[in-house]
Amino acid sequence: MARYLENVWYLAAWDHELQADDVLARRLLDRPVVMFRKSDGTVVALDDKCPHRFAPLSRGKRVGDALQCGYHGLTFNASGASIKNFFSDQIPPNAKVTSYPTKVLHRGVWIWFGEAGRADPALIPDLSFVEDEMLSIHRITVRANYELVTDNLMDLSHAEFVHAESFRLGGIMFNGQHSVVEEGDDIWSNWLMTDLPPPPSAPQDETVDRWLDMRWSAPAVMVQRMGIVPSGSPPRGAAPHNFSMHVITPETAASSHYFHSYFTGMPKTPEQAEPPRAFTEEDEPMLEAVQRTLGDVDFWDHKPVILNIDAASIRVRRRLAGLIAAETRVSEADRGGAPA
Ligand code: FES
Ligand SMILES: [Fe+2]
Repeated sequence: MARYLENVWYLAAWDHELQADDVLARRLLDRPVVMFRKSDGTVVALDDKCPHRFAPLSRGKRVGDALQCGYHGLTFNASGASIKNFFSDQIPPNAKVTSYPTKVLHRGVWIWFGEAGRADPALIPDLSFVEDEMLSIHRITVRANYELVTDNLMDLSHAEFVHAESFRLGGIMFNGQHSVVEEGDDIWSNWLMTDLPPPPSAPQDETVDRWLDMRWSAPAVMVQRMGIVPSGSPPRGAAPHNFSMHVITPETAASSHYFHSYFTGMPKTPEQAEPPRAFTEEDEPMLEAVQRTLGDVDFWDHKPVILNIDAASIRVRRRLAGLIAAETRVSEADRGGAPA
């Protein structure tokens, strides 16, 4: 089974997906999770698997700040401990489920699957720009591994082909300058295209420079910034409408939750927010086709050809693999089974 980085926050849901009385079941990192809000509004996240006969607790019902299994009634509090057995005063000590730390921030519900004592909310990447109501938020499920989706975002050169009709870049990236920049623990994939013909809305007597950058933070939190300036002006201004958010949370080894936020110029309710057609009709079918082709054989075992455009996505894959390997070594050492 795939290993995932654990000591890191994962975006599990948008805040609006979990209303006061909701019981939300979602598969995250190949494990079933159930979420609900306590009466004080804080979010509880438990394993969605009753330890008795393994019924999903999400098929049960809320009882105050607890969740009652719909099969034989064992009831679990927010800490995951069973607090009621209808058939006996005795509650077996192993009648409990894991409860995960959560934090509501940047319009999202974040979950920590690693060591609970290390779940510091300050480790959630800064996505505060998403709180601007002019950015719409939505989620889609992509039937592709989260690292394939990350590849797609860290290598935006695909826009020339996958999005040939929608973006009509017309080959400007073929001569673009691509650089990989490390900033603390983050990795940027930066494209700069210079001396381009002006867009119709700009003065027609001067050329322009365009940039298209993507920042990655572990495990798969990405922020895109893009813009256009008269040629020779300093690029990479910071206007909020230049930013978009792409956070990918593994659902299974072959599917991902894709949380996206981007500037739409007007406040939109969740019902009004639609994923861009370029995602659903261009990126998503391509990624799903790639996943079907790979099957369940590891990406590297297919021996991919590496091109210069892959510099950032390969750096990210290696960084993530290193972080997961380091975590694995530590947990094996803790169990006393570390190789010498
Ligand atoms: S399966 Fe939950 S109480 Fe039996
Ligand atoms: Fe794309």
